[in-house]
Amino acid sequence: MSSLTLTDGAVTSGVLVVGLSFNPNKASALSIESNNLALDTRTLLAHLAELGATGKSDEVIKIPGTKTKLIVFTGLGPVQKEYSHETLRRAAGSAARALAGTTEATFALPAPNIESVAAIAEGAALGAYAFDEFRGSTKSERKLPLVKISIHSKFTKNIEAKNVLKRAQIIATYTHLVRDLINTPPSHLTPDTFTKKIAAAVKSLGGATAGLKVIVLNEKQLKSGGYGGIIGVGQGSANPPRLLHIKYTPKKPRRTFAFVGKGITFDTGGLALKPAAGMEAMKSDMSGAAAVCGAILAIASLKIPVAVEAWAPLAENMVSDNATRPSDIITIYGGKTVEVLNPDAEGRLVLADALVKAQETKSLDGLIDVATLTGAQVVALGTRTSAVMTNNEDFSTRFISAATDSGEAFWPMPLPQELRASLDSPVADLANIGDRMGGMLVAGLFLKDFIKPEVPWLHLDIAGPAYNESTAHGYTPVGGTGVALRTLLCLVENSIIR
Ligand code: BES
Ligand code: MN
Ligand code: ZN
Repeated sequence: MSSLTLTDGAVTSGVLVVGLSFNPNKASALSIESNNLALDTRTLLAHLAELGATGKSDEVIKIPGTKTKLIVFTGLGPVQKEYSHETLRRAAGSAARALAGTTEATFALPAPNIESVAAIAEGAALGAYAFDEFRGSTKSERKLPLVKISIHSKFTKNIEAKNVLKRAQIIATYTHLVRDLINTPPSHLTPDTFTKKIAAAVKSLGGATAGLKVIVLNEKQLKSGGYGGIIGVGQGSANPPRLLHIKYTPKKPRRTFAFVGKGITFDTGGLALKPAAGMEAMKSDMSGAAAVCGAILAIASLKIPVAVEAWAPLAENMVSDNATRPSDIITIYGGKTVEVLNPDAEGRLVLADALVKAQETKSLDGLIDVATLTGAQVVALGTRTSAVMTNNEDFSTRFISAATDSGEAFWPMPLPQELRASLDSPVADLANIGDRMGGMLVAGLFLKDFIKPEVPWLHLDIAGPAYNESTAHGYTPVGGTGVALRTLLCLVENSIIR
């Protein structure tokens, strides 16, 4: 994990990162944005013109510096009086990625206020990520992420600025943990090892001293406890299922939230076996579980006075003589029966158990599930925008505002009542699949059946955004992204200031 510090005054050594923007009315007119740091702008602009620089986002250009070893220009897009936090976050992230292999760099991006300092720090720290744990002979060729990140700012003495730096550090630490979990293959991440990795992270944060408690139910306890969804999905695997429960209880909690994350450590589709092409991406089917665990750890690490419970139903959806068959009927925790028509619609089954269990906690201010639930989400919103479904518009609005502040794209989706009938089963309380059209909404309606109407609930479908199968951009690497963690944190923070 890279370190974050603040610095002001002249930058006379190392690597200097500045912004580059363009005039939208005259694309050849570039501006250097260096947070008022004096630079030989005229010469630099001449060099940049010669190099064909555009100042577009995700463009990073390195040139030898005169005072510093290197000057790195990172694209800010069209010139602005004040750049949005997400523009700064992404520009800092692109530069940090381009600086893998470098020890230290000073980021002099426009930071007129503390929030901009926060955004630059977050972007740079989130961009400084690599996943090389499983490299053997090629490991030594790999460049290490940027080690020391300095943010150029006039707020070096400001306590608020120090706080936002600490927050950025915590966000990056736990986002990196989430990404690591997602990127770890199912050969090395089973339901059991998932719980052990989280227990280790809880321990290193201080465990009970930090107000944290971890409870793990094993397959025996799940069976006798009546968790038919988790058992039904997990029974085809040699790696038995788990239910991971983390409790964060601060001294004087002012709110209480529960998070539930889908934790399918690998989704083959079960007896509805998925096609081989692309199946490898299903190692990311535990992204929701990783995100809720990362979020609760970040919240505890920041000592936010809000009680949070995280639930991660963990199972491996495999093919075997013991796998759930189409037409099998399972009983979800609490007693509802489900006819499993398609064993590939497994996420909703494990979530149902955990959602019912999570609602045993009295007077929840909010219940949020996070899941790579449907391919239909990706069809509807693409790979970079997640969906929010709810039984409480006000809660959803507050969530989306937290998402905007965090730089995560979430978009509201409806739960049309008329689609619910398609989940009716001739033999059980409901079936696990319904209309194919609007499949994301049908999955949301399935979950809604397990939610008490008085509990404010959000369902986040992150199927596309959780895992980047394309190329890196901004602060987002290839592979696990860590999406949802920042918004969950921000929502919990905001819940005590209004
Ligand atoms: N894990 C998948 C959803 C998914 C697809 C996540 C693509 C990320 C990328 C989920 O378990 C699944 O298989 N859903 C089925 C549901 C269908 C059988 C109703 C789907 O979306 O096809
Ligand atoms: Mn599936
Ligand atoms: Zn799945």
